[in-house]
Amino acid sequence: MDEARFYTWLFYAWIALAAVTCVVLLFVPAPYGRFLRAGWGPRLGARLSWVLQESPAVFAFVAFYLLGERRLEPVPLVALGLWLAHYLHRTFIFPFRLRGDRKQATWATTLLAIAFNLGNAYLNGRALTQLGPVYPLAWLWDPRFLGGVALFVAGYAINRHADHVLIHLRSPGETGYKIPRGGLYRWVSCPNYLGELLEWGGFALAFWNLGALAFLVWTAANLVPRAFATHRWYRAQFPDYPPERRALLPFLA
Ligand SMILES: NC(=O)c1ccc[n+]([C@@H]2O[C@H](COP(=O)([O-])OP(=O)(O)OC[C@H]3O[C@@H](n4cnc5c(N)ncnc54)[C@H](OP(=O)(O)O)[C@@H]3O)[C@@H](O)[C@H]2O)c1
Repeated sequence: MDEARFYTWLFYAWIALAAVTCVVLLFVPAPYGRFLRAGWGPRLGARLSWVLQESPAVFAFVAFYLLGERRLEPVPLVALGLWLAHYLHRTFIFPFRLRGDRKQATWATTLLAIAFNLGNAYLNGRALTQLGPVYPLAWLWDPRFLGGVALFVAGYAINRHADHVLIHLRSPGETGYKIPRGGLYRWVSCPNYLGELLEWGGFALAFWNLGALAFLVWTAANLVPRAFATHRWYRAQFPDYPPERRALLPFLA
């Protein structure tokens, strides 16, 4: 089988796996953070889990990106910049800002996330510089590119702000949960997930390839069920939880 055929085959298998994962996650929230519970095997600290699970999104992605012949072309270089702006922060900065780092993750979810990030790095890195569309210079003025980059930047800002609010709900050493307020928390329980979805939606629009589409589908498969579970959890946990607040989409859902 040549690589192009393998890539297409992997893309369809990856989408099918995302659909199954989404259905499972609607009933069984991934056991980390507030949904950590007994019966999921050995645990590790949240910080270590984040660094291990996100590292392939930096190192494997860069390796697959650099393998491609179009690695020095302007459009792929913009994609590389956006990807690294997100993942260098997520892998090496975000974990060290977390507070209340008890053993809040399992090896099971960490290993699954490593496997996901390896596949995602392959699908995206190879699409951008070898197997996906050849981007002419004029793509830099295409409305899909401009709109997609704008969406990515907006999502990035929303995600960073929302994570910042959550992290600062705790004083150093504290471990409990509080009601987040401010910014988009006024309207939704999970603006961090909304921002993440906008980022990868923007990335898929801007770079218009199968790998980016698969990443968007997987992000939704992971985060939509978790947003609804988190919203239900807040309402059950806090009797004074703002009743007008939705789970993920302001005024809608
Ligand atoms: N692309 C993807 O598929 C994907 C998948 C998962 C996550 N992510 C991104 O990764 C980031 C973190 O995700 P996450 O699921 O770990 O988020 P999270 O459950 O909201 O937790 C983030 C941090 O904030 C703390 N926290 C959350 N709610 C709190 C509250 N009400 N009071 C006090 N502290 C609170 C958590 O503590 P505890 O650990 O003690 O709960 C954790 O340290 C997000 O930006 C998300 O978008 C992306």
